[in-house]
Amino acid sequence: MLILGIESSCDETAAALVRDGHVVLSNIVASQVKTHRSFGGVVPELASREHLRNIGYVVNRAFADADKTYADIDGIAVTQGPGLIGSLLVGVSFAKAMAYSLKKPLVPVNHVEGHIFSAFIENPDIEYPLLALVVSGGHTSLIYAPSRGEYRSIGRTRDDAAGEALDKLAKFLGLGYPGGPIIDRLAEDGDPGSFAFSIPKISDGSLDFSFSGFKTAALRHIQESGIKPRHSGGTVSRAILNLIASYQQAIVNTLVRQTQKAQSRLRPKSLLLVGGVACNSLLRQSFKKTFEKKPAEEPARRAIRVYYPSPALTTDNAAMIAAAGTRFFPSEDSLDLELNASANLRLC
Ligand code: KG4
Ligand code: ZN
Repeated sequence: MLILGIESSCDETAAALVRDGHVVLSNIVASQVKTHRSFGGVVPELASREHLRNIGYVVNRAFADADKTYADIDGIAVTQGPGLIGSLLVGVSFAKAMAYSLKKPLVPVNHVEGHIFSAFIENPDIEYPLLALVVSGGHTSLIYAPSRGEYRSIGRTRDDAAGEALDKLAKFLGLGYPGGPIIDRLAEDGDPGSFAFSIPKISDGSLDFSFSGFKTAALRHIQESGIKPRHSGGTVSRAILNLIASYQQAIVNTLVRQTQKAQSRLRPKSLLLVGGVACNSLLRQSFKKTFEKKPAEEPARRAIRVYYPSPALTTDNAAMIAAAGTRFFPSEDSLDLELNASANLRLC
């Protein structure tokens, strides 16, 4: 089964051809980083316009790279939501028109489910029940799936997403956009123990996350200690390096601590680290250290397998949308012309 995936929920226009849910024949992503860089964040109206400009080219490149024609596909999977409504509408309208003219089935996909399926592309035999930490610029959630297609949201951020928290501090300090990968790289030269962020205690025993307190504490520290944002292109001061290393450490500690609680309560067979922030080196190292203990080191724990998709599948892409969409096929006449984009679409 050959599926065309289309993704346009935020600032990446993407198309991919995927066979049987895991063989990626092409995976094209047109990034809008240059468009949004000077604003330090995604400007929704500009994002929609860029999607409109790029979508035809990106889809055709996906066919060309895979050496396939429109007639070769069995169906189309498109991100329905959640995301920016103007951005989503471009992908959904394009996919509907294409499915209608080709007389192929069209399947809507939840973007968060797409991130979960990104792990199945390189490891199709991941076992259920699984626990996924979906951590990106727009999402920070713990999702438990007892079986395929069945999801329970067991923890979510109460304020910013983890990627958003990294991007905002980087913007404030003049480090560049998107801030996550920049902080990841620069933090290696800072001292993560130099500033003690207190990790909020969510006392109701929930598995939720909160990052806005770190941002407030960082801003207060910047004001009180007179840290100056970097001038464009200038060197990054030791004080900034130490602050961002500590900030990143606090965010990673929060993510790992809540995931660990969820893991010991639910005892899943598999643990997935997915979404753009899953590229973060410190987060990956901490997951390895925490969850990949050998059974001999901790005999009471059932062995758990941890999956980290490669970076091209971790940040927004359409291969993950095609992979998630594949599980709904084959379905006859499944072109619903009433299908619409949904900015707040929920997975569960
Ligand atoms: O999954 P994604 O491409 O889009 C959303 O669905 O949001 O994630 C983008 C987010 C941004 O906040 C970006 O700063 C963050 O992922 N990110 C990283 C790294 N690479 C991307 N954050 C920390 N470390 C990285 N290496
Ligand atoms: Zn995403």
